[in-house]
Amino acid sequence: MDTSKKAAAFKSAVRHHYRLQGRHDLPWRKTRDPYAILVSEVMLQQTQVSRVEGFYGRFLEKFPDFRTLADARASDVLAAWQGLGYNRRALSLKRLAETVMGEYGGNLPSDRAALERLPGIGKGTSGSLMAFVFNKPELFIETNIRRVFIHHFFPRMRRGVTDEEIERYIQRTMDHAHPREWYWALMDYGATLGRSAQGIGSNPNRRSAHYKKQGTFRGSDRELRGRILRYLLSQKNAKGESAKKGVNKGQLAAFAGISGSVESGRIERVVSRLLEEGFIIKRRNSIYINDR
Ligand code: ADE
Repeated sequence: MDTSKKAAAFKSAVRHHYRLQGRHDLPWRKTRDPYAILVSEVMLQQTQVSRVEGFYGRFLEKFPDFRTLADARASDVLAAWQGLGYNRRALSLKRLAETVMGEYGGNLPSDRAALERLPGIGKGTSGSLMAFVFNKPELFIETNIRRVFIHHFFPRMRRGVTDEEIERYIQRTMDHAHPREWYWALMDYGATLGRSAQGIGSNPNRRSAHYKKQGTFRGSDRELRGRILRYLLSQKNAKGESAKKGVNKGQLAAFAGISGSVESGRIERVVSRLLEEGFIIKRRNSIYINDR
């Protein structure tokens, strides 16, 4: 088949799948509110759709707009984020809201370079925001999209497919009239391919040059980091305000059930990272969630 015929056949397969099996009811697809769409895109960066669905509505009820999120306590935002993982995203999202309120008059900027200067927004999310908020045919790749294009355009033998190679196909097949729906359709097709690949152990993304197998969570620093944050969030002061009581190193080690020098070294490492990243602050010998 020549290239343009192949592209046309591909587009019609993706659209057909979308008509029959598209996830038309996802809550972030039923809104045009830039803030609500942004929240979904940040949650979906590293968390599965099914999990995000369980948190999204509650988060928006608590923090319905840029202003509320900008004015919120970091500890309240982190508390609402518990269960989604990668807590750094929650802090970035709050800082993003502060920037949008302070520098953009409460409106999400509509140009891609400005989006990429916002906290927590990389190339992928700036592209998805251009498509889903502004309905612009900007190029971006995420895991489902990558899977679709590798499956369709690269022979089974090919390994090490780069995102640059994939971008040429995304460009060539773009629906310039309906970018928002086109990207929804691509993602849904990719999700279906992912589910069927699970059964036969042949995820096309294993042929990507950018493929990384997720490390084990249990026993990792990432797990310890999440547990420490959760512990700090559970410390209430006498007035019941969140995260006001400090915790010292001994309490932390006891909580983590950790003894021995290697393990306390791990706590040190994780705590210094949390300090560097502005999650927590240290006063005298206690650490606290950083509510500023
Ligand atoms: N719909 C809109 N954005 C999405 C995303 N990032 N993942 C899955 N479905 C979506």
